[in-house]
Amino acid sequence: MPTSTYTIAIVGASGKLGRLITEHLITQHPEIQIHAIARSKDKYSPVVQTAPQVKLFQASSSDKVALRTALSGTDICVCTYFGTPDLMLHGQKLLIDICIEESIPRFMGSEFTFNYLAMRPGQHPAEDWILEYSSYLAMREEGSGGKLRSVRVLNGAFMEAVFAPFMQWVDPDLNTFKHYGSGEEVIEMTAIADVGAFAAEVAADEHAVGCFNVLGDRKTIPDIARIWGDVFGVETKVECRGSLGGLDAQMWAAYHREPNNPEAWTGLFYNHAMADGAIYLGGLDNGRIPNVKAVDLREFLQQGMPAQLW
Ligand SMILES: NC(=O)c1ccc[n+]([C@@H]2O[C@H](COP(=O)([O-])OP(=O)(O)OC[C@H]3O[C@@H](n4cnc5c(N)ncnc54)[C@H](OP(=O)(O)O)[C@@H]3O)[C@@H](O)[C@H]2O)c1
Repeated sequence: MPTSTYTIAIVGASGKLGRLITEHLITQHPEIQIHAIARSKDKYSPVVQTAPQVKLFQASSSDKVALRTALSGTDICVCTYFGTPDLMLHGQKLLIDICIEESIPRFMGSEFTFNYLAMRPGQHPAEDWILEYSSYLAMREEGSGGKLRSVRVLNGAFMEAVFAPFMQWVDPDLNTFKHYGSGEEVIEMTAIADVGAFAAEVAADEHAVGCFNVLGDRKTIPDIARIWGDVFGVETKVECRGSLGGLDAQMWAAYHREPNNPEAWTGLFYNHAMADGAIYLGGLDNGRIPNVKAVDLREFLQQGMPAQLW
């Protein structure tokens, strides 16, 4: 049980996941102190702005002095940045360096996704940063002689992202579901609220280190169509968009056409990476965080139409 001086820093607390983690800690662990850090104080939610145990900080991702002040005296730095590869790599490297300088014992990086460490370099241009980031973290962790320990939370896709237009899996107006490959490819997914709760609980446990694989459900596109049809009482249609080989050619052509416009190709790369079993999570750690019960896909859809978050 953390003491009343136990303090969690959340960098990116103005974002969707950062807010969920912060608000979970505020309601479920009122004894924990929180340093909420974002580039603009105006974007904090009202709950975060008014909670007595939260101190609000403003710091850009490259302002070492401001970040150092905000992180000083905390017991874990939780990063929830989401942005360019430059932010994800250099912004997080700076946070890792500050953790070591300020003797902050744990760092939870902004991953909250598939096991992208299993990817080959170049397999997904928008996620390549994770390989360099991860090598840097491992090098700094090892060099710190036990002063810094890394913490990772991996959860597959956010359930909300499965229904996002950029993935092109679902047309909710036509109740049509589309896949590449055989249709037997499994998508691992967790609702963003559950990811926030899992991450908050891992951060709140001062002894939690290493990787936590958490998951709400594993479903194929035809499974998703069937559950959607059951929950919303509609006829659904499943279509095949082509082979995985065809997808491979299509995504690289889209990338080479517009390398600086990830919106044009990133969904295709996610589709491909997900069909590649290498990035599946493997053994799950949900049981190590028993006070969070993740919803499965049916329960998630029973809460209503998925919110369009991205
Ligand atoms: N598994 C999945 O399907 C999935 C899907 C989406 C995201 N994710 C992961 O979830 C995590 C958070 O995503 P999210 O959806 O919560 O993102 P988000 O709502 O966009 O929030 C991102 C945070 O990063 C901050 N930020 C962005 N650019 C910045 C910059 N240049 N300098 C400083 N701060 C900056 C934002 O600040 P402002 O509020 O000022 O903009 C915000 O606090 C990331 O690790 C991401 O990889 C996973």
